[in-house]
Amino acid sequence: MNSAGEISKNLKSLIQEFEKTLGQASSLQELEQARVDFLGRKGRLAGVMSQLPGLPAQDKPAIGRLSNEVKESLNNLLSNKISDIQRKSQEEKLSVFDPSIPGRTPDTGTIHPVTRVTDDICSIFVKLGFDIVTGPEVETDFYNFEALNLPPGHPARDMQDTLYISESVVLRTHTSPLQVRTMLKCRPPLAAIAPGKVYRRDSDLTHTPMFHQIEGFLVDTNVSMADLRGTLTAFAHEIFDPRVCVRFRPSFFPFTEPSAEVDISCVMCKGCGRSPRGEPCRVCKETGWVEILGCGMIDPAVFEKVGYDPEKYTGFAFGLGVERVAMLKYGIGDLRMFFENDLRFLNQFV
Ligand code: PHE
Repeated sequence: MNSAGEISKNLKSLIQEFEKTLGQASSLQELEQARVDFLGRKGRLAGVMSQLPGLPAQDKPAIGRLSNEVKESLNNLLSNKISDIQRKSQEEKLSVFDPSIPGRTPDTGTIHPVTRVTDDICSIFVKLGFDIVTGPEVETDFYNFEALNLPPGHPARDMQDTLYISESVVLRTHTSPLQVRTMLKCRPPLAAIAPGKVYRRDSDLTHTPMFHQIEGFLVDTNVSMADLRGTLTAFAHEIFDPRVCVRFRPSFFPFTEPSAEVDISCVMCKGCGRSPRGEPCRVCKETGWVEILGCGMIDPAVFEKVGYDPEKYTGFAFGLGVERVAMLKYGIGDLRMFFENDLRFLNQFV
């Protein structure tokens, strides 16, 4: 059995030994090991303390106090050493950190040209008093065809290269179903535009199976073709250039009568058909004109389908291709560029 003297000597020597062990430790892991060895439940301090019960009663208080002091010293030594090591590793990190190296800037996105042109077109028509409406891309035959005066078997259905989901459900081939949906919901007077994706079974240099259209329509009493022409001319001047000329060519759509296709003077060659160097203009194929949309006066048969009195109301409608307008506006030669997501192309539209 150890005497009080020996125990107190052992306790004190623990401090020196601990200091020595800490002196050799260089990582937090080694410090943890040292803590377990000296201060742990089965560590050196606990080992010495286990001899305490065997001491004469009068020696116990002094040894108890001493052991508490030793424990506190060990803990202090340990926490000092921990801060030392943490500070050193921080300093090491800072010594390799060069604040003069330029930061890495993350890529920022840009607005897709199709979105940008859609927004531009919508805001022009909103200024003219049109509301914006949207509808489903998966449509029933009724909205996409039948209510638009295209009954089953009508030859003009072939114009549309339809993608069928089932016999009576299609991917909408145009935004014109929004005419029907809006007219069924609201009473005249009304004026709305409907932007959105449309789908056709068609894919080549100038066609993609999905593209974007914006439908526009206005219904009131005494609406005339002159209103249509005035509205579309104002639009063309705003989106392209106040100097462009606008011409209406007779055309056919089952849901408008009369119908027209609208051309603007070519924005590339300014309508002369040739480039400044005298080469044939590829955009308008030397004609000086490019088509931008289809339009017409809403057919009375459509009004009947939605319950409007064709004797009382007249209205106009138009549908334009967003990619087409974007190509002309930004001088883009290949439609497919819009869908390839090449950042070198997209980053130009900041
Ligand atoms: N829906 C027609 C198309 O996609 C365009 C159009 C809309 C024509 C409205 C006249 C009136 O080709």
